[in-house]
This record gives sequence, structure tokens and C-alpha cells, in this order.
Amino acid sequence: MAANPLRVALFVALVPAAFLLPGSSPPRLPGDHSGYAPEQPIHFSHRLHAGELSIDCRYCHFGAWESRHAGIPPASVCMNCHASVSAGFDAQMAERAAAVAESRDPRRVVSPEIAKLYAALGLDETLTQQSAPTPIPWVRVHDLPDFTWFDHRVHVARAIACETCHGPVQSMERIRQVSSLSMGWCVDCHRASAAEPGGNSAQHVSTDCSACHF
Ligand code: HEC
Ligand code: HEC
Ligand code: HEC
Ligand code: HEC
Ligand code: HEC
Repeated sequence: MAANPLRVALFVALVPAAFLLPGSSPPRLPGDHSGYAPEQPIHFSHRLHAGELSIDCRYCHFGAWESRHAGIPPASVCMNCHASVSAGFDAQMAERAAAVAESRDPRRVVSPEIAKLYAALGLDETLTQQSAPTPIPWVRVHDLPDFTWFDHRVHVARAIACETCHGPVQSMERIRQVSSLSMGWCVDCHRASAAEPGGNSAQHVSTDCSACHF
């Protein structure tokens, strides 16, 4: 590996300091966090949305094609559908059947999970604004240490599928980290890609420390 020894020594000296810097989120120490699947504030299912309903990843994570971060969609994106879909299909059908049995008009059903979405937007169940919106506090799953640099766009432009790094998201009821995100994981793929016909180890798929660390 063509690494400048002085730069490496400097870098290694700086790593412990990076952990002490104040940050917006608690620092994630290096280590294998694969399998991490924290509970989320709203039960949002990728299996349902990306799998069963076949909504394209790009509909919600368009950032991955344009920038470093894939990004999490704001609640307004959810409202494109959930202004009208206020509960799951089964709950709506059950209410319709009950309305027929009781010969009355069906009532609007709002599921407890969709009610949380409305609450985050400051809306009541009739979608009347009651208070200021607050962002949904989604719990971050993938989180590289701050001293590393990763950019979605360059990977997505090379047509590396989301699933190569994130696993079978379409079948996940709750999102889970699948890859280790370790340095070895990144470097192994960079080495393999550089060895491919057309791979360019000097310019693109670099294994230079400075490609992923400053
Ligand atoms: C392709 C990207 C990539 C390259 C190239 C790379 N690193 Fe890393 N490195 C990472 C990532 C990602 C982590 C964080 C790993 C983790 O969170 O477990 C890391 C972590 C580290 C750490 C923290 C301790 C550890 O092992 O987890 C050190 C020190 C380090 N790298 C040094 C280097 C040096 C020196 C080079 C050049 C010889 C280098 N890195 C090249 C991606 C890279
Ligand atoms: C309808 C919107 C929507 C669609 C479609 C969608 N996602 Fe997501 N995604 C979210 C939301 C909201 C979160 C944050 C909540 C969660 O973790 O479940 C998220 C979280 C994630 C995360 C974890 C983020 C983190 O914190 O590390 C990954 C990875 C991800 N999505 C990948 C995908 C992939 C791959 C696809 C396509 C197969 C996809 N998503 C389709 C809305 C969506
Ligand atoms: C393109 C349309 C669409 C978008 C965008 C969308 N959803 Fe959904 N979602 C649906 C549909 C349709 C259902 C009901 C599916 C069923 O029950 O068969 C659903 C169901 C749900 C449910 C389960 C409802 C229940 O309690 O039974 C939750 C929670 C949910 N969505 C949250 C979200 C969140 C959060 C977002 C934004 C990140 C989002 N959805 C974006 C269409 C969408
Ligand atoms: C080459 C591997 C790789 C590919 C391909 C990839 N991701 Fe990621 N993804 C990562 C890593 C690494 C992180 C953690 C980044 C960090 O902490 O800075 C991440 C983080 C995320 C996050 C959390 C929010 C963010 O932007 O950091 C989402 C959402 C996500 N990816 C979605 C996607 C989607 C959707 C695709 C396909 C369009 C995709 N990813 C393709 C490796 C990848
Ligand atoms: C599945 C294979 C794969 C994985 C895993 C992967 N990369 Fe890459 N990466 C690539 C390819 C291919 C390119 C070249 C894209 C291009 O042609 O511009 C690349 C390019 C990059 C670049 C652009 C600059 C350069 O000189 O290399 C950075 C930075 C980078 N990757 C960082 C990372 C980090 C950090 C990780 C781990 C967290 C990672 N990559 C994991 C395949 C991968």
C-alpha cells in the first residue's frame, strides 16, 4: 500500500483526539455494529413500503444519487400518501364491514402509528394544524466514525446496488445494519474493484489512507 509514513503517523496520532471532540451525536467507536436494529419512534416498515408496495428507494432516499448522504425523508414525503391513507388496509376494511353491519357511514380510522406521524406534523386526526411541526426523532443506524469519509454518490454512480452494502432491505420489517462497515470491508472491495478490467487504482478506487481519512 503506497502510504506516506509521516501522514500515517500524524493520522494515527489524531484519531484519539477525534473521539474527544464534541459532536451532535454520541461518537460511534470503531467496531463491528452489524446486526444493530434499534427500535424506531414510528413503526415504519421497509418490507411493506419498499417490498410489498414496491416504492423505489429513490422516492425517499434521492440524496444517494446527488450527494454524500442518502438522507432520511421528511414527514411531508410520507404525507403524499398518508394524508389519505390514515390506517392499514385491514383496519379500513374492518371498519367498513362494521359500518355495513351497523348500517351507518364508515368512520375515518387512524392507526396509532399514523397518529404519531400526524402528531409530528402538529396535526390532529382530522389534519387540522394544532401545533408547530417537530422532526421525527429517527434513530440513526449506520454511522461511521467522524474521522472517515464516505460518499454515496460515487458508489451509486458505479451502479453498486444499495443491497450490496445494506442487505435485503425490501424484506426488513425494521431496518438493520448488515455490513460491518469496518475499514477492511471498504478496502477489500476497493482492492477487488481496482483489479477489475477498467478499474483505476490510482484515481478512483483508491486504497490511499487519504481517500477515506483526512
Ligand atoms: C476505503 C476506505 C479506507 C481507506 C483507504 C483507509 N481507511 Fe482507515 N478506516 C476506514 C473506516 C471506514 C474506518 C472505521 C472503521 C470502524 O468504524 O470500525 C477506518 C478506521 C481506521 C482507524 C481506526 C482504528 C481501526 O482500525 O478501526 C485507523 C487508525 C485507520 N483507519 C488508519 C488508516 C490508515 C493508516 C490507512 C492507509 C494505510 C487507512 N486507514 C486507509 C476506511 C478506510
Ligand atoms: C417511503 C419511504 C422510504 C422508502 C421507499 C425507502 N426508505 Fe429507507 N428509510 C426510510 C425512513 C423513514 C428511514 C428511517 C427510519 C427507519 O430506520 O426505518 C429509512 C432508513 C433507511 C436506512 C437506515 C438509515 C440509517 O439510519 O442508517 C437504510 C440503509 C435504508 N433506509 C435503505 C433503503 C433502501 C435500500 C430502500 C429501497 C430498497 C429504501 N430504504 C426505501 C424511508 C424509506
Ligand atoms: C407512496 C405511498 C406511501 C408513502 C410515500 C408512505 N407510505 Fe406508509 N403506507 C402506505 C400504504 C398504502 C400503507 C398501508 C398498506 C396496507 O395496510 O396494506 C402504509 C402503511 C404505513 C404504516 C402502517 C399503518 C398501520 O398502522 O397499519 C405506517 C406506520 C407507515 N405507512 C408509515 C409511513 C411513513 C413514516 C412514511 C414516510 C417515511 C410513509 N409511510 C410513506 C403508503 C405510503
Ligand atoms: C458502497 C456501500 C454503500 C452503498 C452502495 C450504499 N450505501 Fe448507504 N450507507 C453506506 C455507509 C457506509 C453508510 C454510513 C455513512 C456514514 O455514517 O457517514 C450508509 C448510510 C446510509 C443511510 C443513512 C443516512 C445517510 O445518508 O448517512 C441511508 C438512508 C442509506 N445509506 C441508504 C442507501 C440507499 C438508498 C442506497 C442505494 C441508492 C445506498 N445507501 C447505497 C454504504 C453504502
Ligand atoms: C462493494 C464495493 C465497495 C465498498 C463496500 C466500498 N466502496 Fe468505496 N468505492 C467503490 C468503487 C467501485 C469506487 C470507485 C467509484 C468511481 O469509479 O468513481 C469507490 C470509491 C470510493 C471513494 C472515492 C474516492 C477514491 O479515491 O476512492 C471513497 C472516498 C470511498 N469509495 C470510500 C469508501 C468507504 C469509506 C467505504 C466503507 C465505509 C467504501 N468506500 C466501501 C467500491 C466500494
